[in-house]
Amino acid sequence: MQRNRRTFLKQAGAGAAVLAAASALPTRFAVAQKAKLKLGLMLPYTGTYAALGHNITDAMNLRLAEAGNKLGGREYEIVKLDDESAPPKGKDNAARLLVRDKCDLLIGTVHSGVAIAMAQVAKEENKFLVIPNAGAVQLTRQNCSPKLFRTSFSNWQPAYPSGDVALKDGHKTAVIMTWKYPAGFESAGGFKDSFVKGGGKIIKEILPDFPSVEFQAGLTEIASLKPDCVYVFFAGAGALKFMKDYEAAGLKASIQLYGPGFLTDGVYKQAGSAAEGIKTTLHYADDLDTPVNKKFRAAFKKATTREADVYAVQGYDTGTFLIQGLDAVKGDISAEKPLIKAWEGVKIDSPRGIFTLSWSHEPIQDIYLRQIYSGDEKLLGVAHKALADSGSGCVMA
Ligand code: BEZ
Repeated sequence: MQRNRRTFLKQAGAGAAVLAAASALPTRFAVAQKAKLKLGLMLPYTGTYAALGHNITDAMNLRLAEAGNKLGGREYEIVKLDDESAPPKGKDNAARLLVRDKCDLLIGTVHSGVAIAMAQVAKEENKFLVIPNAGAVQLTRQNCSPKLFRTSFSNWQPAYPSGDVALKDGHKTAVIMTWKYPAGFESAGGFKDSFVKGGGKIIKEILPDFPSVEFQAGLTEIASLKPDCVYVFFAGAGALKFMKDYEAAGLKASIQLYGPGFLTDGVYKQAGSAAEGIKTTLHYADDLDTPVNKKFRAAFKKATTREADVYAVQGYDTGTFLIQGLDAVKGDISAEKPLIKAWEGVKIDSPRGIFTLSWSHEPIQDIYLRQIYSGDEKLLGVAHKALADSGSGCVMA
């Protein structure tokens, strides 16, 4: 814990004076009654995942505004930081929020590699971390922690049902193409778990670096391999470019494309004909016919003039998660045991449907099958009911 804090303070030139000042502060309980809660929000606001970061932020703010902009009766301020989806900067950025800015809790991020770095710093600084997107499986498996919660998904979760979907569609061979980083590997792993178990064969895995959008060589290889289908993990601006390139390469008409819904969410309108027919699995679908979803989509549109997507849903649910936990402890974040208990017991009435958390702090949720049809995303059904990540290797200590 001290190593990271010291390193950061030294770099920031603050030195021992800051530590001395901190030790002169009143007790945590007294602080809880007066000071604003400080929420460190670390998300990408530039780069290929920028739109994802903005939707998470705006929807979380929308939810907090609906609750009167207070958490457990306490005012709060948000300290925002653009993490650029850059894992090498992840630890320094997280330390900046927790050590320099003295945030009470950390919220973030989108990119799994950055989230892994954030989790290390949060652990060293003994602070809560709430993850509104990044699905790195280790964070709710072997590196789970009592103070780490995820309101989104594990990378395995939306991917796993897609292998069965491809098999049911009659496909026997697949090529996988994903960015070369944990989210890509783990998403591919989820697809393989069901596709290979059901008798399917993976004939090749093509792995461009993150966030490269140079897809041409991979697409040429797919054309020559002629698999029955292709499974990909791309998201944000990179996903848009991939769909367009796939169509331009002449593959769309002959080789069915599958992926977790990150492939089309937030970008299928811009993709136009390139997105038509793509089948995806995800813990959300635009046209879920529930009052909660309809109300949320209308409110998000009114607040931002944009259509909601899965990232907005996750931001909104992160707001609900913060509200439920901090209301239970009347805003006193130092009441750690009751807060953990409250967060472990949340039941979130989300636009995606009601979900609870598993023992490893991961949503247990329905995974939907969707397809882009006539320019809209259509819900085809539930691909897997109440799917939980295994949480294997997680020991809460
Ligand atoms: C990830 O890095 O875990 C991730 C990024 C974008 C969409 C989904 C997952």
